[in-house]
Amino acid sequence: MKTTVNVAMTLDGKIDNVARQGAKISSDADWERVDAMRAAHDAILVGGNTLLAEDPRLTVKSEELRADRLARGLAPDPAKVGIVSACALPANSRFLNDGGGEVFLFTTERTSPEQLALLRNAGAKVFVLGKTRVDLVAAFKVLAEHGIETLMVEGGGGMIAALLEAGLVDEIHAYIAPRIFGGATAPTLADGNGLLGGIHLKLLTLEKLEEDGILLKYKVL
Ligand SMILES: NC(=O)c1ccc[n+]([C@@H]2O[C@H](COP(=O)([O-])OP(=O)(O)OC[C@H]3O[C@@H](n4cnc5c(N)ncnc54)[C@H](OP(=O)(O)O)[C@@H]3O)[C@@H](O)[C@H]2O)c1
Repeated sequence: MKTTVNVAMTLDGKIDNVARQGAKISSDADWERVDAMRAAHDAILVGGNTLLAEDPRLTVKSEELRADRLARGLAPDPAKVGIVSACALPANSRFLNDGGGEVFLFTTERTSPEQLALLRNAGAKVFVLGKTRVDLVAAFKVLAEHGIETLMVEGGGGMIAALLEAGLVDEIHAYIAPRIFGGATAPTLADGNGLLGGIHLKLLTLEKLEEDGILLKYKVL
């Protein structure tokens, strides 16, 4: 399974400001690129905090791209994947209900039986893989077994760091906005406990976009 992280960040590497409420970073043109990237993938993954705080739809917005997926014999939207230690989504959650893609949830024994039943009743494929934290390698194995060949990761910083640490990321695409958020507690591309020694990357492409944004694509070595 090829896994590509896509993030929008400020020049100082922040993927949100200190308010942590999903600040808009991408330009409109970059949003179109992200939409096309979603349409080109089998599944889109988000981490627990992003999932519970933002309840993202993770759907393809362009009608043209949706029609193109249907013409290729695919669902109009890619599958959605949530990795969340203790899940607590409401039955009317956008993540669970919006769009036309399958929903996968990987969680742990910290999620209540009532929540597991709610998620399954909503049609999600739910996997309990761990006591307190999700076994990421096992989760990726399940996705591959379900035919997911291309996975796009949309954050947040904790999830990206954990995936990098587990050696599960192939590429990173980063849109850099001409802005600085600052703030030691604002989330960055890779949070968690730090990656001693660092993750080494090879630059694939560098592109200047409209409105002074920059798009960098890296291969993870
Ligand atoms: N600009 C962008 O492109 C972009 C995209 C998405 C999100 N964001 C921003 O990112 C921020 C959220 O990032 P975040 O770091 O707080 O949360 P996150 O990466 O969305 O989620 C991390 C959570 O995943 C759970 N998890 C379960 N199993 C895990 C495992 N094996 N390894 C690591 N985590 C595991 C953890 O739960 P436990 O700690 O309970 O175990 C952890 O809280 C928000 O401010 C959001 O707006 C920005």
